[in-house]
Amino acid sequence: MNGSVVNGCADSSVSKRRRLEGKVAIVTGGASGFGESTVRLFAEQGAKVLIADVQDDLGLSLCNDLVSESGYNDVIYVHCDVTQDSQVKNAVDTAISKFGKLDIMFNNAGIPGNLDFTILDTDYENFKRVFEVNVFGPLLGAKHAARVMIPAKSGVILFTSSSASVVSGESPHSYTVSKHAVVGLMKNLCVELGQYGIRVNCISPGSVSTPLLTTAMGLEKTAVDDIVCSSAVLKGVVPTAEDVAEAALYLVSDSSKFVSGINLVVDGGYSTTNPTYTNVIKQTFAALAKDTC
Ligand SMILES: NC(=O)c1ccc[n+]([C@@H]2O[C@H](COP(=O)([O-])OP(=O)(O)OC[C@H]3O[C@@H](n4cnc5c(N)ncnc54)[C@H](O)[C@@H]3O)[C@@H](O)[C@H]2O)c1
Repeated sequence: MNGSVVNGCADSSVSKRRRLEGKVAIVTGGASGFGESTVRLFAEQGAKVLIADVQDDLGLSLCNDLVSESGYNDVIYVHCDVTQDSQVKNAVDTAISKFGKLDIMFNNAGIPGNLDFTILDTDYENFKRVFEVNVFGPLLGAKHAARVMIPAKSGVILFTSSSASVVSGESPHSYTVSKHAVVGLMKNLCVELGQYGIRVNCISPGSVSTPLLTTAMGLEKTAVDDIVCSSAVLKGVVPTAEDVAEAALYLVSDSSKFVSGINLVVDGGYSTTNPTYTNVIKQTFAALAKDTC
């Protein structure tokens, strides 16, 4: 599967001014969820996109969709397990050989791991696997991207962290720690790579009913959306993968050309509050009111 490529013909109807015209992007985890929506948006905005994932059928079918249905030129799929140095190197080298350069590296692939919420339940092998995909994967992606971006003295490296990097106690330890590590990596890289004109940023989405979340929760998409919306601070919006893709587009486009080192939280304000105290007060007053009736 390494290096599988699908190309198509450009459609003149998509030639209006686009925000990523002439850019080359790699999206890891690009076959599903946030990655898929981002691939679609980046291609729509004129980028040449390399989808790097381990789900070959999904990745190739997304590629075919974009080429045959939407008429976007230059979208390719490469099998790439982000935990494997040689496969990440191959993805970057393929982008260079097919498209001539790399402007955008979106290290987005991630897994939730087991839902071990207590320290006593925490399993070492699971912790290790979560770190391999969520931390070492982005590290390898950044390393191989920097290899070609430093000589070019330009580029954007973007990571997907999670609102678990700013809200504690709601995700398993392995996932929370891995997503904090991604933010730390982003900040350190921002300082190191700034001298080469390379911007480094991070997106931290709140819960969105992608396959990752529906599978982890064992619930249908509509049930997950209900839970997300009931607990939301910002009402009237059902968050989607497209909302995260739009944030990614901002951070990789020239609209954010002086933005580096930020962790952009895309959660409708959820992480700004902790309703625990208020909920207990409401319950207490409701119980008192019931007693006096
Ligand atoms: N969905 C959410 O609620 C949510 C919230 C915050 C952060 N995130 C993060 O967003 C990112 C994308 O998740 P999503 O929700 O779109 O999930 P998803 O499962 O729909 O997509 C993740 C993609 O990553 C790929 N992937 C997994 N392991 C890989 C590996 N070793 N090598 C290459 N690709 C691999 C999968 O095949 C899949 O296509 C992840 O980093 C996740 O932790 C998700």
